[in-house]
Amino acid sequence: MESQTNINWYPGHMAKTKRLISENINLIDVVYELIDARIPYSSKIKDIDNLIKNKPKILIVTKMDLCDKNETNKFIEDYKKKGYNVIAVDLKDNRSINEIINVTTNLLKSIDEKRVQKGLKKRSYRALIVGIPNVGKSTLINRLVGKKAAKTGNMPGITKALSWIRINKDIDLMDTPGILWPKFDDKEVALNLAATTAIKEDILKIDDIAIHILTKLDKYYPNILKERYNLDKIDYDDITLTLDLIGELRGCKIKGNLIDYDKVYTFILKDIRDENIKGVTFDRFKD
Ligand code: G4P
Repeated sequence: MESQTNINWYPGHMAKTKRLISENINLIDVVYELIDARIPYSSKIKDIDNLIKNKPKILIVTKMDLCDKNETNKFIEDYKKKGYNVIAVDLKDNRSINEIINVTTNLLKSIDEKRVQKGLKKRSYRALIVGIPNVGKSTLINRLVGKKAAKTGNMPGITKALSWIRINKDIDLMDTPGILWPKFDDKEVALNLAATTAIKEDILKIDDIAIHILTKLDKYYPNILKERYNLDKIDYDDITLTLDLIGELRGCKIKGNLIDYDKVYTFILKDIRDENIKGVTFDRFKD
């Protein structure tokens, strides 16, 4: 299974994104790296530092409103210990956007000071957003840019293939976010990504993803399993018994009153996507 899942993981356009970033990284002053609070390990792009070199970076943990804060905070503390600037946010909340701008401004101040020391003039700074699909890149761009969005047009010496949007008088944002996939080494990571809708369902089997979600609930969040599906436990010996109960409860049926398992799987996935299931973190911190 592992080798089978790996095949689809580095699609062609991903190689193109990597090339675009590495060719233009010298233009960038600050990188926003986004990860999903529900999978703070699985959503982290492992080889990102090779790509963005030693550029100042802000690690933005999105979807804090959907995670289990106790568990996610362990990862956040660890990232901080490792020297990351971390901001944990709900991108739908205005305060989060203000915090991102404040942290960026402080970070860039030190770059400003260095420029002044070198006798260089102040200039506006350029930011890049990178992260896995669905982590909140477009939301962040839209929120940062707000209604005052203005394309900044061509900048001298910068390729016309890139366009920039002015966030405020100090910061321009690269218009195209870097969509990257983590190079995952195990099926657990792949399933975590699929469960939180970071990857298309058709890369992994929908039944595997749904059962992965149920297993996580059974293991870590039995109260949600009870609340949402009226189950005390999962029947690992015969999973169809569990699926039958959910199907009955949620009316996932086909003609003849039979359970439609595909509908059950879709229902479970949709529960995550529609935020009916929240307060969950699927990664566990290991020292
Ligand atoms: P991407 O560009 O990285 O692919 O992600 P995008 O911004 O499109 O966000 C994917 C989905 O995640 C969107 O929901 C967005 O609203 C939601 N989202 C982003 N950040 C947060 C967050 O911090 N908290 C919560 N709860 N949701 C977040 P959608 O259903 O696809 O669209 P819509 O609800 O915005 O219409």
